[in-house]
Amino acid sequence: MKPVLENTVALVTGASSGIGAATAAALAAQGAAVALAARRRDRLDTLAADIRDQGGTALVLETDVTDGQQAAAAVERTVAELGRLDTLINNAGVMLLGPAVGAPLSEWQRMVELNVLGLLYCAHAALPHLLRAAEDGPRQVADMVNISSVAGRVARSGSGVYNLTKHGVGAFSESLRQEVTGRYVRVSVVEPGATATELAGHNRPEILEMIRARPERRMEAADIADAIMYIVTRPRHVAVNEMLIRPTEQER
Ligand SMILES: NC(=O)c1ccc[n+]([C@@H]2O[C@H](COP(=O)([O-])OP(=O)(O)OC[C@H]3O[C@@H](n4cnc5c(N)ncnc54)[C@H](OP(=O)(O)O)[C@@H]3O)[C@@H](O)[C@H]2O)c1
Repeated sequence: MKPVLENTVALVTGASSGIGAATAAALAAQGAAVALAARRRDRLDTLAADIRDQGGTALVLETDVTDGQQAAAAVERTVAELGRLDTLINNAGVMLLGPAVGAPLSEWQRMVELNVLGLLYCAHAALPHLLRAAEDGPRQVADMVNISSVAGRVARSGSGVYNLTKHGVGAFSESLRQEVTGRYVRVSVVEPGATATELAGHNRPEILEMIRARPERRMEAADIADAIMYIVTRPRHVAVNEMLIRPTEQER
């Protein structure tokens, strides 16, 4: 059987680890040519080599998406070198937890710059190409999948700014969905619960200790990639608007 995403092109931000890397590999396995964006070039080169070994097509884009020009350049290079853009996985993100009182302002800035502005820069640059892909593409439909979190649905003490950024992703996604769905660009939001990736590792040592003290069952990055693949492989008339996924044992 022909792979569902054959002849389509996908761009994945934050493709150098975790959910982004797993999703890029899954997209390539379904026949999409994938552009891999993140800052760590060595990681992207390794993933691209793996994808090519499996017969896929991968383009490495060393990109800091918090820089609007770099984000736009990543989108334009994808289109210039792979020919089009059918799918954007807006995944790059950072989660810096801890009490708001006395929190380093730089941590708040990093989260807003990446989780909100980085996602917006990529969305803005990609939209004209996604609209074109929905008109003339092999599937006559295009996808933007924005990665939020359970934290985008429920706010908790100690994660206020992460909550703010992810609630923002949900609000923007729903508004944009209404705006472009009639033109067959599907905007979806995915809200994972605890997933075993490098995400928590960027916290200060004292916060990391608190996170590690919580005995928590985690999903694998591949579990979230699976959910994203379900979304982007639906037929043209089906749009999965939102997907909230927790490890079975996670109560809240
Ligand atoms: N893991 C979880 O439990 C969980 C739960 C809910 C939601 N999420 C969300 O899932 C998404 C992916 O996170 P993950 O869990 O897979 O964590 P991860 O392994 O830390 O991946 C984060 C990715 O973002 C990239 N990134 C960071 N800063 C960047 C920048 N300025 N420009 C471009 N890329 C940048 C990183 O690559 P470089 O460092 O190479 O740039 C990395 O590839 C995030 O939006 C996160 O909020 C995760």
